[in-house]
Amino acid sequence: MTGEAVPVVTIDGPAGSGKGTIAVKLAGLLGYHYLGSGTLYRVLALYSLQHQVKEDDLQAILGMCEGMHIRFSPWGDDGEVRVLLDSQDISDQLRTEECAKGASSLATCPQVRQALLKKQHGFRVTPGLVAEGRDMGTVVFPDARHKIYLTASARERAFRRQKQLKKQGISASLVNLLTEIEARDARDKQRDISPLRQAADAVRVDSTDLSIAQVVQHIAALVQNE
Ligand code: C5P
Repeated sequence: MTGEAVPVVTIDGPAGSGKGTIAVKLAGLLGYHYLGSGTLYRVLALYSLQHQVKEDDLQAILGMCEGMHIRFSPWGDDGEVRVLLDSQDISDQLRTEECAKGASSLATCPQVRQALLKKQHGFRVTPGLVAEGRDMGTVVFPDARHKIYLTASARERAFRRQKQLKKQGISASLVNLLTEIEARDARDKQRDISPLRQAADAVRVDSTDLSIAQVVQHIAALVQNE
């Protein structure tokens, strides 16, 4: 990249740490674009599930990756971002546990990560980008101006997930959710390629006892008082 690079704020962290909600709000506040990188992995997982593509059929998965056109729609007052695949709203289909598991599994494939790297770089356009995921600050945007590592206790994250599901009319046991969250954390942290970890130059923010507004305010202050 030549000249002044487009500014990027990265927010990495485990599932349920609130990074999606926080990143969307921060992007709105700063007037930046938003990238939820997990969505890209989820879209590939959804495609594999819908077309019964076997996980080792790399040709089909990479072909889908090449052709897919994803946009995050502007967000409304509720802070909900909609995901558009070729203009079709697929947000609800991406939220299932099946999709999350598929994404986490595809995310261990080096060729898939490499193909998605290019896609993710494409979101870096003026006036700036807030990118959230697992490896935004470590691998995808190592030169980001601000890096945040957002975390919360596993129990609190399971509790948040339970509340979210309840809103959708789904009841789930806290113990089961906690087990699922811990299993996904372990998979994301222990994989060989791009494991979830805090970048050396990232600021750690623990959201366990903080409200969404408090976290946004805290990060916005870090970014704006550089
Ligand atoms: O953030 P989200 O829950 O949508 O991510 C789904 C899965 O995609 C994660 O559990 C993780 O395995 C994978 N992922 C990743 N790298 C990213 C974002 C997500 O490996 N930058």
